[in-house]
Amino acid sequence: MTTRSRGPNADVGLRADGLSAIDPNKLRDDFPILHQEVNGRPLVYLDNAATTQKPRAVIDAISNYYLLNNANVHRGVHTLSQRATDDYEAARESVRRFINAPSADEVIYVRGTTEGLNLVASSYGRKYFSAGDEVIITGMEHHSNIVPWQILGKEIGIKLRVVPFNDDGELLMDEFESILNDRTRMVSVVHQSNALGTINPINAIVELAHARGVPVMVDAAQSVPHMPVDVQGLGADFLAFSGHKLYGPTGIGALWGRAELLNDMPPYQSGGEMIRSVTFEETIYNTLPHKFEAGTPDIAGAIGLGAAIEYLESIGMERIAAYEQALLKYGEERLRGIEGVRLIGSAQEKGGILSFYMDAAHPHDIGTILDAQGIAVRTGHHCAQPVMARYGIPATVRASLAFYNNTDDIDALVKAIDRVIEVFG
Ligand code: ALA
Repeated sequence: MTTRSRGPNADVGLRADGLSAIDPNKLRDDFPILHQEVNGRPLVYLDNAATTQKPRAVIDAISNYYLLNNANVHRGVHTLSQRATDDYEAARESVRRFINAPSADEVIYVRGTTEGLNLVASSYGRKYFSAGDEVIITGMEHHSNIVPWQILGKEIGIKLRVVPFNDDGELLMDEFESILNDRTRMVSVVHQSNALGTINPINAIVELAHARGVPVMVDAAQSVPHMPVDVQGLGADFLAFSGHKLYGPTGIGALWGRAELLNDMPPYQSGGEMIRSVTFEETIYNTLPHKFEAGTPDIAGAIGLGAAIEYLESIGMERIAAYEQALLKYGEERLRGIEGVRLIGSAQEKGGILSFYMDAAHPHDIGTILDAQGIAVRTGHHCAQPVMARYGIPATVRASLAFYNNTDDIDALVKAIDRVIEVFG
């Protein structure tokens, strides 16, 4: 029989420094969706690693585009087309600034992180890999950073090498060093694990990989929304993230890559926009970034992404990171206070992920009980089945934080877990 959680302010202690970095209650007013009841209770949205909610600034940018400026980009001399093109390209510049890329030409719009990873695997991999070559990933990758390389492996005969991690969810860097070898052609690694929250040491990984001339691809889907990310500071060669986890729309994201690499890579998809000239005999490809953007793009999505970035910049990513770190610590300490709750992932460097397992009930049943109390979490394997296998569990319950969450949300989660304990014992 498990015991109930301790009270919110017992010995947890609020970290006034981090928790006062922003005022989440004021910022919540920017998110219309948060002001509703679900199952008769105020909505507590803790599924931000799956997707984040959208501020009014993003919703307005998308509807203004359709209300006032809708036209295709790069194709028309008329005013609407020029306005749409200007806004679409201004958003690309916002992405460049946000991740400190050297040039907006290195920013490719994609559907999301998954497409960014597929683009690199397909285009770079097919050009440069041959049978017997190796790609290194980690044991905590999302399926989107496993399957594209596996598919390539079947096609070309490359081998996937996997860096293991310890019980806390920290990469074993010695193992990484030992599997890097002369056949390694790419290291593709998640920046912040969606299932564990672990923030991986990208600088150290890049240093070791580059010492052997191996490029590094970073899956930044879960890091870019929660901390300042500087591609030049990281030193990586490719980095991808999704708009919808960054308070922007679904269906849009960005891949950044070094121009010298992107310039030598073949197109990923083909059609209009990615060409400079076409005859039946020969096609000359367009320059970056258009070479990788075949067809009419998600114009509204790109403009919405630009608005999301401007909104985040107005708050400040350092402040967001400081606040979320403090909220994470609060959440971890509160969950650790509940007997029967096992936190999965307790790396020293960790983002706002509270993944947990309870012997008392299946994660899906826990999720259903939480939903009945208005609390949205994700339950399942989080598209990271090898992580679940590593811990010998089928799934976890995952509460994932955003800057609009507050300690009341965590307290509501803890109270709802008490209800789970009442039901399942
Ligand atoms: N990759 C997203 C998640 O972790 C969908 O939930």
